[in-house]
Amino acid sequence: MRRKIAAGNWKMNGLTASLTELDTLAARFPKPGCDVLICPPATLIAPAKARAGSIAIGGQDCHTGVSGAHTGDVSAEMLADIGASHVIVGHSERRDDHGESSELIEAKAEAAWRAGLTAVICIGESLAQREAGETLDVLTEQLAQSTPDGATAANTVIAYEPVWAIGTGKVPTLAQIGEVHDALRGQLEARFGAEGTGIRLLYGGSVKPSNAAEIFAVSNVDGALVGGASLKADDFGGIISALEAA
Ligand code: PGA
Repeated sequence: MRRKIAAGNWKMNGLTASLTELDTLAARFPKPGCDVLICPPATLIAPAKARAGSIAIGGQDCHTGVSGAHTGDVSAEMLADIGASHVIVGHSERRDDHGESSELIEAKAEAAWRAGLTAVICIGESLAQREAGETLDVLTEQLAQSTPDGATAANTVIAYEPVWAIGTGKVPTLAQIGEVHDALRGQLEARFGAEGTGIRLLYGGSVKPSNAAEIFAVSNVDGALVGGASLKADDFGGIISALEAA
């Protein structure tokens, strides 16, 4: 059985005062029935970790190097040093805003492992790719190229996030989500064997308390990566509860 994960990505949102949302979650879920992960902006990782209870804290990106002359970048080792256990790599906003390639994301996932972090590797098709019938081909290539050899159930989580569903309120049909997750599972098992069976597959893109339960019932959906609805403890708490019940 794969333990399910409710992961929140705060993106470039949150000041110190926002940590009260985390306090509320930590108090509501002292022993959650699924893994709970919050990825706040890098500025809040250390204070978040200090008050997160059994909620894991992660980064949203990392550099491939350990240290050096890379102004503004943060290494995986630095994230680990301040209490992160996970790091998101390859989010579509990084791929788009910063031109990140799957090859770079693969190197970032290896950097995460080097630092002892679990890599949450994101993949997803654009609307044009979906409408052109290219979804599975695009995802197959992104998954193959973004995931390093050596991926295990412990060091890797995959998040399928259709780019057109992120922050838009649009969600694929349950059949579309299931088709993708089943295909990704098959690909992971073909490449990684039993570890591929254990790697958790998250769905992301406009997940809310109101649609979480039906998404969590889809085959090979092991949880969610949540953006907007992770910012408020009430909303994210509803999603965690739906996952605990799934
Ligand atoms: P959203 O973002 O939940 O706001 O659609 C998801 C994500 O980008 O991880």
